[in-house]
Amino acid sequence: MATSSNLLWVGRGSGELDALMKRFNESMPFDIRLWEADIRGSIAYARALGRAKLLTRAEVTALTRGLEAVAAEFRANTFAVQDDDEDIHTAVERRLREIAGPVAGKLHTGRSRNDQVATDHRLFCMGAIDQISAGLREAIAALLAQAEPHVKTVMPGYTHLQRAQPITWAQFCLAYVWQFARDLDRLADARRRTASLPLGSGALAGNPFAIDRAALAEDLGFETVGENSLDGVSDRDFVAELAFCGALIGVHLSRLAEDLVLYATSEFGFVSFAEAYSTGSSLMPQKKNPDAMELTRGKSGRLVGNLMSVLTLLKGLPMTYDKDMQEDKEPIFDTLDTLTMTLAVVAGALRTLTVNAGRMRGALDPAMLSTDVAEYLVRRGVPFREAHHIAGRAVALADGKGESLRALTLAEWRALSPRFGADIVDLFNYARSVASRDASGGTSPRAIREQIRKARKLLA
Ligand code: ARG
Repeated sequence: MATSSNLLWVGRGSGELDALMKRFNESMPFDIRLWEADIRGSIAYARALGRAKLLTRAEVTALTRGLEAVAAEFRANTFAVQDDDEDIHTAVERRLREIAGPVAGKLHTGRSRNDQVATDHRLFCMGAIDQISAGLREAIAALLAQAEPHVKTVMPGYTHLQRAQPITWAQFCLAYVWQFARDLDRLADARRRTASLPLGSGALAGNPFAIDRAALAEDLGFETVGENSLDGVSDRDFVAELAFCGALIGVHLSRLAEDLVLYATSEFGFVSFAEAYSTGSSLMPQKKNPDAMELTRGKSGRLVGNLMSVLTLLKGLPMTYDKDMQEDKEPIFDTLDTLTMTLAVVAGALRTLTVNAGRMRGALDPAMLSTDVAEYLVRRGVPFREAHHIAGRAVALADGKGESLRALTLAEWRALSPRFGADIVDLFNYARSVASRDASGGTSPRAIREQIRKARKLLA
């Protein structure tokens, strides 16, 4: 009865699956991406069965060779998916049986697709984390390449999108470097928890054949062995964590994209994108659109959506494995693909972005130095609250006269506070203002060089 079908679970009954139900149940169209992890896991499991004396040395060799032959077909793109290949696990075992013969039937001894899929998915996610981390490092390198020549390029810094205080272009770029640095750290942390071995959990209750799980973990590059077989087959925290890391990277990329879209407008004119990363309009000949950044901003939506999919999928599941979990693959695959492409495009767009220092300087306004006026008074013994008040009156006075703060006369300054001296004019120098913010983390060229030195280590 069972031999006429490749369906692994045939044997229980003879019922034919409804054609639509069969398609509904299948994951092969997407979990085919797990082929490499699945074969690695199976080779390691065959060796573990050998160590446990459940397979002879010759059987281990036959299975290993067979699995390598299957891998070669996937690599060469010649693997022929068959109608009954329900998922990647079934497909690999079916092909292994065709290549290696009946010994293939021994591979699944003590193993279930439940601990198998959990193992494969973790291996896949570990690889995905490494790939996304590499993409983040490229983006960081591109931001550092922007920052390095611009430690003294002064521009307006914003709060509430209102001109606030002078900063430098390097300081702006480095702000995103540290966002991405935290993303790298978060991914490394998630990877540590992902690298916990579920194999040997069986269907849910554990492995009855004294499999050496520590040796299996070592063989497959896992750092720890899962402590509980029920948790082993039902835990998908690693999927949710990776989806979260991806969503937050998406949010960071989206914020960077939004800044650059603004800065590239004719109104700001701080930066301009290379032709290679801009598109034109089919109607308006003058248009040069920052599509690379708009798509980056847009793609953050699906990254957030993928996280929502995974969390919503998991929230009502009873212990242990439930078929719902099959739905945890596509969101993660999409997160990986979306981030791989987006990070590469962002790195390319940043590397080819040109900075218009003149436009940045032109957008500075002496009122942005009113905090410096208050600080001037503080250095002369005025309590900050009072100093802030006096500086505010200076701004109001200049405003009332329709003049810039810089145009106030010494007599006007001294009427506001006798602590003002003739050296107040020296204050109206943006480079001086920037250089004064020299505590670590500040926007002074010295503090920025210190940041760049530290950030470089992220790439080492
Ligand atoms: N394709 C399934 C998945 O991705 C494999 C596990 C199936 N296990 C089972 N007991 N039906 O979740």
